[in-house]
Amino acid sequence: MTTQNSAHPTPSAIAPVSDKDRVLIFDTTLRDGEQSPGASMTLEEKLEVADLLDSMGVDIIEAGFPIASEGDFEAVSAIARRVKNATVAGLARASFKDIDRCAEAVRHAAKPRIHTFVSTSPLHMKYKLQKEPSEVLEMVSAQVARARNQVPDVEWSAEDGTRTEMDFLCRCVEAAIAAGATTINIPDTVGYTVPEEYEYIFRTVRERVPNADKAIFSVHCHNDLGLAVANTLAGLRGGARQIECTINGIGERAGNAALEEVVMALRTRADVLPYGNRIDSTMLTRASRLVSAVTSFPVQYNKAIVGRNAFAHESGIHQDGMLKNAQTYEIMTPESVGVSKTSLVMGKHSGSHAFKEKLKELGYTLGDNALKDAFKRFKDLADRKKIVYDEDIEALVDDEIGHAGERMKVVALTVIAGTMGPQSATLTLDIDGTHKTHQATGNGPVDAIFNAIHALVPHSAVLELYQVHAVTEGTDAQAEVSIRLSEDGKSVTAKGADPDTMVASARAYIAALNKLMVKRLKTKPEAMLQNPGLRGSVA
Ligand code: KIV
Ligand code: ZN
Repeated sequence: MTTQNSAHPTPSAIAPVSDKDRVLIFDTTLRDGEQSPGASMTLEEKLEVADLLDSMGVDIIEAGFPIASEGDFEAVSAIARRVKNATVAGLARASFKDIDRCAEAVRHAAKPRIHTFVSTSPLHMKYKLQKEPSEVLEMVSAQVARARNQVPDVEWSAEDGTRTEMDFLCRCVEAAIAAGATTINIPDTVGYTVPEEYEYIFRTVRERVPNADKAIFSVHCHNDLGLAVANTLAGLRGGARQIECTINGIGERAGNAALEEVVMALRTRADVLPYGNRIDSTMLTRASRLVSAVTSFPVQYNKAIVGRNAFAHESGIHQDGMLKNAQTYEIMTPESVGVSKTSLVMGKHSGSHAFKEKLKELGYTLGDNALKDAFKRFKDLADRKKIVYDEDIEALVDDEIGHAGERMKVVALTVIAGTMGPQSATLTLDIDGTHKTHQATGNGPVDAIFNAIHALVPHSAVLELYQVHAVTEGTDAQAEVSIRLSEDGKSVTAKGADPDTMVASARAYIAALNKLMVKRLKTKPEAMLQNPGLRGSVA
């Protein structure tokens, strides 16, 4: 839909999209996104996300930070080997060791990129790097040249770019391009800038730097003031032609600019934002659900584009308007972001074929085994619940995806609750194929369950968050429990869903322990050898 008045020019008043106005979409869900506290993903999950990003039309996938750990290195190289269309980038600090490791990780990609960065703001140079500006400038040239010797596609970022002095920023950018950088990123690392300022920064750097036309400029915005998407769009007005963003806006602290918001702003307001891109917007909902499932980060209900309420109309006036003409209150269609009009109503008589169709409609494709398991759980649910809503199926499948390949599983749980305490829980876990049972008491049933888990899987992780929400309305609704555990300064988040809140709690806690175990395996493999069973992995 286009708005046709003088304040909002019609498409014909805007220059058509040319190659010059095509923007590249650089997705950093697997790098900056994975840096969100608790958002870690397994290798299989990262591959699944990378596949989806690639088929969605993302131009560059930043797959990780190879020097950070063995696990990160493996993930970047596996993604590099696998991705068919997109460029695969790895991140490297300004050190030869980082850059060489990154080069090794991306070298099998059809289109490899090294993304190297260094801080350029007075604050960062003085306190973080403890270096003089002249030393930093030398580092820029040396590191970019090192990277460029290994791959033809090199991105250089001025960390804390928006708090960098303009003259120094221009000198660094010029040096980076002279040393062979093909993309220049000016990140708003701390989410500090405002749209007018960000546009000015790009405009000025591009005007002042003599070799600016030899590189593509890139925006990278954090959302600390809630301005990441607005700043991103302003950067395009200043001449940037690459957008760095993440699915669901996940990322350090308040996150990064959300890919789905940027893409739909460009698509819906092409009249004032005439920048083309290759993203298939009908895959946005699916991408959002997948990233939410694998990171266990819930998507807020009123989140733009992909939130559950993004296309819901509650008030009578709005509903009336919608019935007369959907454009009265809808600036984009649900179908354009991959939300299909529900056609299949699911219940206990639905067969596996209908279930598979429903999953397709909701944007999921599961492998044969996962499909079989999910269908079995759907049938159990349909036996217990009168109406099975789409949300029920989403929760169930997200739970199935989130728990795939886990070494510990909840097999059985009996809880005694009520006023006649003490409350107790008898829990059986399957741990690497062996069943172990323990009964524990606690201050309430949830405490009793967690005590039983502690007895079966001794560990020192701290419970940082326990949250329950009902997936749908009604007292027979499924409960979805989110849990965050932290250990050695690292945290993981996991979800569990079940019509029984206690079972969902146990599943979520066990899922979080499984994730911690994977993390431990990646960062401290020696700890896995200390104890028999799983003890050493999490204790
Ligand atoms: O926010 C930031 O500055 C970054 C850089 C590494 C690009 O993520
Ligand atoms: Zn960042």
